[in-house]
Amino acid sequence: MAQGTLEIVIPGRPAKCSIFLGDHISRQFPVALLNEATSIAIVSDEVVARLYSGQLRQLFSKTKTTHIITIRHGERSKTLATASRIASRMSDLGLDRKSVLIALGGGVVGDLTGFVASIFKRGINYVQIPTTLLAQVDSSIGGKCGVDADWGKNQIGTFYQPICVFIDTSFLDTLPEHEVVNGLAEIVKSSIIANSSMFEKIESRTSDFFSIPELKSLIPSTVGIKSKVVETDEREANVRRILNYGHTIGHAIESSSDYSLSHGKSVVLGMMCEGWIACQSGIFDRKDFARQQSVLSKIRARYKIKTDFESRKVLRFVTLDKKNTAGIVRMSVPERIGKMDTGTDGNFTVSVSREQILQSLNWLRSGGN
Ligand code: GLY
Repeated sequence: MAQGTLEIVIPGRPAKCSIFLGDHISRQFPVALLNEATSIAIVSDEVVARLYSGQLRQLFSKTKTTHIITIRHGERSKTLATASRIASRMSDLGLDRKSVLIALGGGVVGDLTGFVASIFKRGINYVQIPTTLLAQVDSSIGGKCGVDADWGKNQIGTFYQPICVFIDTSFLDTLPEHEVVNGLAEIVKSSIIANSSMFEKIESRTSDFFSIPELKSLIPSTVGIKSKVVETDEREANVRRILNYGHTIGHAIESSSDYSLSHGKSVVLGMMCEGWIACQSGIFDRKDFARQQSVLSKIRARYKIKTDFESRKVLRFVTLDKKNTAGIVRMSVPERIGKMDTGTDGNFTVSVSREQILQSLNWLRSGGN
């Protein structure tokens, strides 16, 4: 995908999801898309709303009544309680089945907004306008929506596609460095699972500093990878599982840190552990695992971890992962850079023992070398 548009067409679904990509693309929002809407509510967090919600409201309010609903910034807002507060506010504002929600923000806002859209009056249309690199290359695409529960991350949720996604790369101009690293980690993950030449491009850089134009140049291929996978397997029955590389242990680490570790950081730690397990099991080529590790250093994402999480707690969260079946922990792991292991049953997962997970966490704690 170059700058421009792409459509995700899911077999058996009447509607397609259009993805628009480019600098300042959200200013060119084709308001005609919302012709049928009775009203619009922009859902955002307090930080993003301050920066951008005014200009969007101006754009929409020329034709529709436009409301803004703000939530607290951060993963701890991604709960059923917040979803319920948003829905109740929507009801107070008189939103109906023909109203449209606009998610303006990072992954937390996107996942929550999609989830509320999927259940409010049994489902209304919504649009994703992701403002972080991570949300632009991952969570805004593919229709996974949901909230975290006491017993783990994303444990309550739905698959519900947005009517369109606006990846406005100009939002990246104000992104803090830790957010850049979070997004880059996801881009590296995408290259490991499906695109070795993209991985080589990142690997061959001489500097570890990524300029904003360079970051922007990595977005189209990453979005392309995700869109293709989602079109093939929206409900994660098989190939979509490859997008979960690093997320099984990563989500468990994130949950067990009570979200003090960011999603991006946790996924990096997850990729290190899951890659290490696959390498020890003879699945992931040893040289390619070393290349993964060195690229993670290059993007300044090789974190040293000592006390941020308890291994037993991580293990407990891992056992609740949605890919597990009959109490067996299952993960999606690479065979080499650019190719994921298809698994013994062709479902893109391998079973991993609790012992292997604990060993990988010990390895991580001892420096991960
Ligand atoms: N972030 C993984 C997926 O969307 O399937």
